[in-house]
Amino acid sequence: MRNSALKSLSFALFIACGTALPQIAAAASPEPVKAERGMVVTAQHLASDVGVEVLKKGGNAVDAAVAVGYALAVVYPTAGNIGGGGFMTIRFKDGRTTFLDFRERAPLAATKTMYQDDKGDLVKGLSTNGYLAVGVPGPVAGFEFARSRYGTRPLKELIEPAITLAREGFQLEQGDVDTFDGRTERLAKDPAAAEIFLKAGKPFELGDKLIQADLAASLSSIAEKGPDAFYKGAIADAIVKASAEKGGILSKKDFEQYQVRELEPVKCNYRGYDIVSSPPPSSGGVIICEILNILEGYPLSYLGYGSAETVHAMIEAMRHAYVDRNTALGDPDFVDNPVAKLTDKAYAKEIRDKIDPFRAGVSEALKPEGFGESKETTHYSIIDDEGNAVAVTYTLNGSFGAGVVAPGTGILLNNEMDDFTAKPGAPNLYGLVQGEANAIAPRKTPLSSMSPTIISKDGKPFMVIGSPGGARIITITLEAILNVIDHGMNIQEAVDAPRLHHQWLPDKVFMEPYALSPDTLKLLSAMGHDVEIDKNWTIWGQATGILVGGESLAEIAEGGGARYNGAADSRIGAGAARGY
Ligand code: GLY
Repeated sequence: MRNSALKSLSFALFIACGTALPQIAAAASPEPVKAERGMVVTAQHLASDVGVEVLKKGGNAVDAAVAVGYALAVVYPTAGNIGGGGFMTIRFKDGRTTFLDFRERAPLAATKTMYQDDKGDLVKGLSTNGYLAVGVPGPVAGFEFARSRYGTRPLKELIEPAITLAREGFQLEQGDVDTFDGRTERLAKDPAAAEIFLKAGKPFELGDKLIQADLAASLSSIAEKGPDAFYKGAIADAIVKASAEKGGILSKKDFEQYQVRELEPVKCNYRGYDIVSSPPPSSGGVIICEILNILEGYPLSYLGYGSAETVHAMIEAMRHAYVDRNTALGDPDFVDNPVAKLTDKAYAKEIRDKIDPFRAGVSEALKPEGFGESKETTHYSIIDDEGNAVAVTYTLNGSFGAGVVAPGTGILLNNEMDDFTAKPGAPNLYGLVQGEANAIAPRKTPLSSMSPTIISKDGKPFMVIGSPGGARIITITLEAILNVIDHGMNIQEAVDAPRLHHQWLPDKVFMEPYALSPDTLKLLSAMGHDVEIDKNWTIWGQATGILVGGESLAEIAEGGGARYNGAADSRIGAGAARGY
């Protein structure tokens, strides 16, 4: 009785305020960056400059995305890369959308139990450190696939700024130096990585110059010969040689066979906004849509940002959706992903009906029968003068990936193999407990959370958004969307606002400091939620977003502000939105 009474009340309130603008939740952030013709938002200001220059010279958003991808590999080595993998969501000016998967593939010699010992126990560090953790990298193939089909400029022109930054070096600002913090020991273990990313064994300091001569040479050969330089030439040879010498299993065939996949993005509608995001092998788009569908039944705008009722609904939606994430999804070439079911509004209603409005759910009770990430990813958002929008999230997985560089290449390699289920039921780098659908197999791609997302309204681009954050990528991206659509924040406030995260297991609500007031915490605790400040994640993922037509819904409703409004998360020391 109480449940249905509250649901009726919520529904009545939702109807009552359904057409009203969301309440303004002033989150006190800097103003978004405003521009009329193009916007590039990345985690490193020099890469944002590179992207905006491409747009100014007449390149489109895809051209800029390729140039930024290469530039970040130089100026943001903690996550920007050509030795990792990623996804690109594109919305063209005519409303068509597509999705490119250039994530890592497992080497042909990979096996399901490769990170377990004879007793079936996980061997600590094997899936995260050194060459055995490395998946076959995809960005060079992915960027060229995007450029050759959807770009307009020659590859040489788009790589040139990255080559210059690598060859001549760039001066490290505080935000850059911070990305090296705590990485010395790890980088010191690999002489080739230490040679480049440490200064005589010590961390870089403010004002130091980072020069990457080997990376400049690798980039130059890609500029000359195209992706074959990476997948069929000297670069692949050097990586395979180093891998063989240091316990890895990468082969020349792994590189020769690498293929980009062009996939249909996941689509859903939230309160009249059309969401386009990442399909499997990412869980991101599916789970964002599943959570949004569940939350659509709650009047979040009326209940208010950070209220116990809003937070309870969010946590329960996350709890249920992450069960699906961690048990049902995997590489679409290997697993039949129930995308249609998970993004169906009727399925969302079934979940809503199971959510007790007064009590926290119990994660253990949701475990399916038989069920036995790092923040160091980076996202960038771009929109051009014609309205083409591109969202890219790419990653080395852990900070500086596996912490290894094949001698002579200057290319940091990923530890993406840790995103597989190394053992069903055992937590990975991000504490994610996953199942068989994401088990390791040769050529398979590990399940990702990366969620490059583009939102449109009435057939026009509205928002470009995404974030790093490992398992938190989904909830960070989701919360930025809710903050704009339900809570009326401007794009900068929306990416800056403190966040919450629940991922089914462990059965805990993680929050950033100050995300919830003591009163709200008491209410949530009385409902049975176990909430704690996430001590292991002092800096959660740094979102980068663009809002079109105004900095917030209120400004758009008043007749609009600047055409493009860019926001680099204030958590990013070195990031910047740049427009023109
Ligand atoms: N490595 C983070 C992710 O792909 O989700």
